[in-house]
Amino acid sequence: MAMLAKRGASTQPNGHAAHDLNLTLQVWRQKSARDAGRMVTYKAEGISPDMSFLEMLDIVNEGLIKRGEEPIAFDHDCREGICGTCGMVINGVAHGPERATTACQLHMRHFHDGDTVTIEPWRARAFPVIKDLIVDRGAFDRIIQAGGYVTAPTGGAQDANAILVPKADADAAFDYAACIGCGACVAMCPNASAMLFTAAKVAHLGHLPQGQPERDDRVLRMVEQMDVEGFGACTNIGECAAVCPKEIPMDVISFMNRDLLRATRRKDREAKTSNE
Ligand code: SF4
Ligand code: FES
Repeated sequence: MAMLAKRGASTQPNGHAAHDLNLTLQVWRQKSARDAGRMVTYKAEGISPDMSFLEMLDIVNEGLIKRGEEPIAFDHDCREGICGTCGMVINGVAHGPERATTACQLHMRHFHDGDTVTIEPWRARAFPVIKDLIVDRGAFDRIIQAGGYVTAPTGGAQDANAILVPKADADAAFDYAACIGCGACVAMCPNASAMLFTAAKVAHLGHLPQGQPERDDRVLRMVEQMDVEGFGACTNIGECAAVCPKEIPMDVISFMNRDLLRATRRKDREAKTSNE
């Protein structure tokens, strides 16, 4: 159990005292993938504004366990915004109301005493619910797996300057590598598209010299797997980028589409040449 914030009066960043919150939660409860699921109302009382959203759920779960009831199942690991496991839809928004913030980094000071808060799992056909707020995001793993590996010889540790990377490319690769695979982009897209996630992975390696040998094959395989998993197409709505906790921008999708077009045309040319 993670260390919980102390309950009682606390101090906000503006120096004002903030008092504990009493909230009403409406939480999606679903025993298994086969269960129909339903919203269940709980009270969350004496919640410190300094607690994280997950710590608030810990408190609610402690109460449920004491009463002999089944605790609310939710995914979490790092609680530092870096592992991507804590996805849930809070008041209709993936990861909740704070921009560029994962559910585990969301603090209760962003809610008001007396609020009703709805909490639901990601809802997408490619992310089936396992239990309550936990969904199976194995589809993302399979997309990454389809990308394969880079065959650049690794050998011993090279001199840091042996492969020069232009600063703009290094910065872009780093920004795209920030994607934590949380799935919020899919959860908020009306098409349940995984384009932002897949494009971030494609663009990360596509900007680095080590990623060039398999660049075409990688984008072809990853996009194919994305379609096999049942994710929808992108229609430029932009909800994905709006809720992405790592602020992956939508223009990365254009990068992937350009790579896909180039790789497809090369494959077509090769096929035509081998038939001649
Ligand atoms: S692109 Fe953003 S929202 Fe989508 S999986 Fe990556 S970090 Fe999460
Ligand atoms: S628990 Fe790791 S990102 Fe939230």
